[in-house]
Amino acid sequence: MDLSVRPLAAEDFDGFINYWLGLSKAEIERLGIAIDRLPSAARMRCDLEAMLVAPDDGVRSFVLAWCINGEAIGHSSLKDIVPGDFGSIHLHMWRSDLRGKGHGPYLFCLAAVEFYKRFKLKRIVCEPKADNPPPNRLLQRIGFPLISTRIGRSSELSTICKLNRYDIEREIAEDYLLTRASHKNEAGKGSQQIALSS
Ligand SMILES: CC(C)(COP(=O)(O)OP(=O)(O)OC[C@H]1O[C@@H](n2cnc3c(N)ncnc32)[C@H](O)[C@@H]1OP(=O)(O)O)[C@@H](O)C(=O)NCCC(=O)NCCS
Repeated sequence: MDLSVRPLAAEDFDGFINYWLGLSKAEIERLGIAIDRLPSAARMRCDLEAMLVAPDDGVRSFVLAWCINGEAIGHSSLKDIVPGDFGSIHLHMWRSDLRGKGHGPYLFCLAAVEFYKRFKLKRIVCEPKADNPPPNRLLQRIGFPLISTRIGRSSELSTICKLNRYDIEREIAEDYLLTRASHKNEAGKGSQQIALSS
């Protein structure tokens, strides 16, 4: 199985839009999404198209597709981007049948490292809702430190709720990728492609 990330492309827009507009009431509650803040499908498409043509130093947010065998099955967005400095990362696996299988941690680390390189960042944080177990478990299991808790919005789409703030340290993400890749190779199960040079 080949796990990789790449900038969200036009052929992925439907998957992205259907994920957001297809969330159940329970998921909206668990994720802390403010339903009245979700843009329409047309607005999302328009924003994504603008993102694709904008220069890297001119975007406030950017989306990387999470791919399994080349097919987009989720995404990480980076918001509040300050090039050369800071960004806030998010994580979503669109395909519910692929959740809970351990792919998310690897794809998340690939995305974090790619964001560090693309925007020459010094720091990335991730702020899941404190009572949403999957992202908190994922971030803790990889080893990212929980640095604070606050009441607020994790993005412009969110409700005001209790958030856990994790430091997504580049070194921890790179170590995780290397460790997983070497386990895979030892087990002879094929390779997961990574490119760690900057
Ligand atoms: C968060 C997410 C990206 C994690 O990716 P993943 O591939 O599922 O990650 P993992 O396989 O490592 O699972 C992470 C944890 O969530 C749990 N989990 C994930 N999906 C689950 C499911 N469908 N049922 C039960 N548990 C689930 C796993 O058991 C695991 O917890 P554990 O370490 O205690 O066993 C993915 O679950 C997802 O997209 N969830 C819905 C959207 C969401 O909550 N996004 C976070 C917004 S901040």
